[in-house]
Amino acid sequence: MTDNPAALFLGQSFEGAAETLLFKRANRHGVVAGATGTGKTVTLQIMAQGFSEAGVPVFCADVKGDLSGISQPGDTVRFAERAGQMGLTLTGKAAPVVFWDLYGQKGHPIRATVSDVGPTLLARMLELNDVQEGVLTVAFHVADKEGLLLLDLEDLRALLAYVGENAQTIGREVGNVSPTSIAAIQRALLQLEQQGGKAFFGEPALRLEDIMRTSLDGRGQVNVLDSTRLMNSPRLYAAFLLWLLSELFEQLPEIGDPEKPRLVFFFDEAHLLFNDAPKGLLEKVEQVVRLIRSKGVGVYFVTQNPADIPDTVLAQLGNRVQHALRAYTPAEQKGLRAAAQSFRPNPAFDTAEAIQGLGVGEALVSTLDEKGAPTVVAQTKIRPPDSRLGPATDAERAAVMAASPVRGTYDTAVNRESAEEVLNARRAQAERIEAETASVAAEAKAAEKAARSAPAPARERTAPRPRASSRQTPMEALTKSVLRTAGSTITRELLRGVLGSLKRR
Ligand SMILES: Nc1ncnc2c1ncn2[C@@H]1O[C@H](COP(=O)(O)OP(=O)(O)OP(=O)(O)O)[C@@H](O)[C@H]1O
Ligand SMILES: [Mg+2]
Repeated sequence: MTDNPAALFLGQSFEGAAETLLFKRANRHGVVAGATGTGKTVTLQIMAQGFSEAGVPVFCADVKGDLSGISQPGDTVRFAERAGQMGLTLTGKAAPVVFWDLYGQKGHPIRATVSDVGPTLLARMLELNDVQEGVLTVAFHVADKEGLLLLDLEDLRALLAYVGENAQTIGREVGNVSPTSIAAIQRALLQLEQQGGKAFFGEPALRLEDIMRTSLDGRGQVNVLDSTRLMNSPRLYAAFLLWLLSELFEQLPEIGDPEKPRLVFFFDEAHLLFNDAPKGLLEKVEQVVRLIRSKGVGVYFVTQNPADIPDTVLAQLGNRVQHALRAYTPAEQKGLRAAAQSFRPNPAFDTAEAIQGLGVGEALVSTLDEKGAPTVVAQTKIRPPDSRLGPATDAERAAVMAASPVRGTYDTAVNRESAEEVLNARRAQAERIEAETASVAAEAKAAEKAARSAPAPARERTAPRPRASSRQTPMEALTKSVLRTAGSTITRELLRGVLGSLKRR
């Protein structure tokens, strides 16, 4: 009963039936919820490996480091009995894992360029207020108009300095920028850098095909993002995953409902995505989740309480695994009710009671059937994983990385000419012009003096009035001319990333 090739085996119901997830319904998204220590990570592990076995690549975050064991062979003896009860023979196989790490320590670095991330998500990472976000957007406009490449945080810093220096001109032509806001953004940038965010921005940027590989034996690559350090910067973590989701959304073509997903994306600690997120962002997340389905991407939210996920998103999560919930406080009771009501009831038991009575490694399961309707909820013993339960050692991790298919592709950062270099060169040029203008002015002054003391005809040889006396500084003049040649209408779409993709639709 565990060998249906069209479905992922989740475990066995208390009545003895196989509880499965149909691959062709797996792009209808899902949720794995439950109190701490109830079995969420193990469920994520068996799902990730199940998808991989079916040739579906997976992306998941390893929040506590305990998911890394999926890269190692499992203990077939320890769980033999549990497996046997379900008619399952454990293979003890490891999954084909690629480790990633935004900081480049416990995995291959993942990078994106500043312009790919775009002002909206960047503002979220930097925890900017609306006014500051507006200024950041203006800065992106300026970069776009002037053809300045924004790759890393140095570029952004140089751009902001440039925008600050030319605030008046830019204010007239593009939008208001106050020095206070610029200073606040610069401070936030510094903070992001200190948290290690610097490593994330730059090149070589991640190519999506590198997380969507299948290994030679036809198994999907399991991408494990080490998030143990990243969790200290929850906004960066959430914004990063959102960025990745939006990239997938933008770059992948429509395929409707495929026989199996093209990629499955697990969003662990999902509450971080929604915690005090502005309404506009929530709406976009809701839209991306709804639309990414037809691109063949399944999104699975992992969280302690399904009440952490907004209703509009929760309503789209067709495949549900609910581990035990506690219900002591009124808030917990409310969460429990919400969780219970989201299931199609089983006449054999009361859903809310059952959720509280579940043991570790047990869950209420309901998935979408052939017709796309939710199955009647079933109390289920979740299967043990084939791979190792628990973390991989540092040496094991290093061995996996050394044998990785992307080894060498991302490990070293490259820094090509971009906004920082261009603006520095431009500043040097402006300074040269300024110096030349000053010397012309000095010459003119000397000539004038000479002319005054000479007879009248010599006056006609007076040098022209020096440019230095005009009210514009050379830098301003330069900015103006560049802005003018770029045209006054803003033609390029600036809000890239998750928001941009929707704007363009
Ligand atoms: N399906 C399972 N088969 C065998 N053992 C399991 C299973 N699920 C959970 N366990 C046992 O329960 C322990 C806790 O599970 P897990 O780490 O998945 O909990 P969690 O919900 O992710 O907790 P946290 O919220 O603290 O991250 C595991 O280390 C394992 O010993
Ligand atoms: Mg866990």
